[in-house]
Amino acid sequence: MQCSWKSVVLLALASVAIQYTAIRTLSSTSYLLCPAPPTVSPVTNRAGDEYPSNSSRRLQVLLLTTTRCGSTFIGQLLNQHQDVFYLFEPLYHVQMSIVPRIHLGADLMLGASRDLLWSLFQCDLYALESYLRPAPSRHMLATMFRHSASRVLCQEPVCPAFKANDTWEEWQCKKKCLPLNLTTASQVCKEKPYVAMKTVRVPVVGDLRPLLEDPRLNIKVIQLVRDPRGILSSRIDTFRDLYRLWGIWQATGRRPHTLETRQFSTICDDFFSSVSTALSRPAWLKGRYMLVRYEDLSRVEAWIQANTRGTSEAQAKDKYGTARDSAANAESWRLKLPFDMVEYCQSVCQRAMRQLGYRDARSADQLKNMNASLVQDKTFLPFL
Ligand SMILES: *[C@@H]1O[C@H](CO)[C@@H](O)[C@H](O)[C@H]1NC(C)=O
Ligand SMILES: *[C@@H]1O[C@H](CO)[C@@H](O)[C@H](O)[C@H]1NC(C)=O
Ligand SMILES: *[C@@H]1O[C@H](CO)[C@@H](O)[C@H](O)[C@H]1NC(C)=O
Ligand SMILES: *[C@@H]1O[C@H](CO)[C@@H](O)[C@H](O)[C@H]1NC(C)=O
Repeated sequence: MQCSWKSVVLLALASVAIQYTAIRTLSSTSYLLCPAPPTVSPVTNRAGDEYPSNSSRRLQVLLLTTTRCGSTFIGQLLNQHQDVFYLFEPLYHVQMSIVPRIHLGADLMLGASRDLLWSLFQCDLYALESYLRPAPSRHMLATMFRHSASRVLCQEPVCPAFKANDTWEEWQCKKKCLPLNLTTASQVCKEKPYVAMKTVRVPVVGDLRPLLEDPRLNIKVIQLVRDPRGILSSRIDTFRDLYRLWGIWQATGRRPHTLETRQFSTICDDFFSSVSTALSRPAWLKGRYMLVRYEDLSRVEAWIQANTRGTSEAQAKDKYGTARDSAANAESWRLKLPFDMVEYCQSVCQRAMRQLGYRDARSADQLKNMNASLVQDKTFLPFL
């Protein structure tokens, strides 16, 4: 299929736009940007040509990101689509089983992560069992990290408590969809033309090379990045203990002597390394990589919201104004971080920020003047 790469993202976008439209305006306007496959169920569609029809043609999407990059939105684009088998951070279990033996090192974690991704992308969900304690019996999982974040695990046949078109609610699923029958889940996975996963536990795209070169797989990577200053600000709010010293700096304006720079610089080093690999356009990434900035994404999100409101509401409100407000939220960190902290981040992160199009704030005034964005317009074309 000509459009297969774009179709993953665009179909997902279109589907969410349609859902928003249906919910908010009850109109049937469609936002299809790319020729859509016929809307038949994947089962009856298996003989058709539009979709990858068996595991060698199934398309796998890996959303590669780090915490506080706004991956929830892209994740939901994938999760909401009926043809996608989506798993939210399956590598959590690898980390949990390896961290107590951390001396074994990052290589082991990476090797194990790749193994698990490989199996899961082939719809072999039993592979998860090696990382679960106590080991599940009869392929029934008593618990799985954020299983309820996967819509497909929260509806029949995986979860008989909910019909396929019931409204998916994470907290309901949490209560009613355990234990999880991995046999059924694997079967459902095999019927879907797309398998998608999100992870924050693979640092750089280069780590995925063996998977991308494997002819048995057909992986596309979406790397999601964000202004590191925004990530820091958001992590200070979210992970108070882990980022305690940064929080003290933010609150008091004084940099604690014991502050660990690495916690922050790793974000930038990984971005730089990963994006540099991609920009050098190695053959193994051809047709398989797309870079997305959170800030650009939040403009899309704002646009969808602004354009899918009921008409009267849309008329009452300046919808482009709304879009601008919401996109500006992506830069709200500028009002939270003191200037010397921002300056420090900029010096640690120079290379990555330049590469990704994030401008330095040169003064406290410039930092706080929200009229001028610090995000440069920059187009990162998918490497086709
Ligand atoms: C999968 O599809 C390919 C291409 O259509 C075909 O050559 C292959 O035999 C199929 N494999 C299975 C297991 O059906
Ligand atoms: C839900 O799906 C069933 C068939 O699976 C169908 O009969 C029913 O009308 C659907 N309900 C809604 C509200 O779409
Ligand atoms: C899990 O589901 C499969 C079929 O989907 C079924 O054969 C099996 O009995 C189920 N396992 C348990 C323990 O219920
Ligand atoms: C930002 O823009 C608003 C409205 O356009 C204007 O009133 C305000 O003075 C501007 N602020 C700065 C610091 O330029």
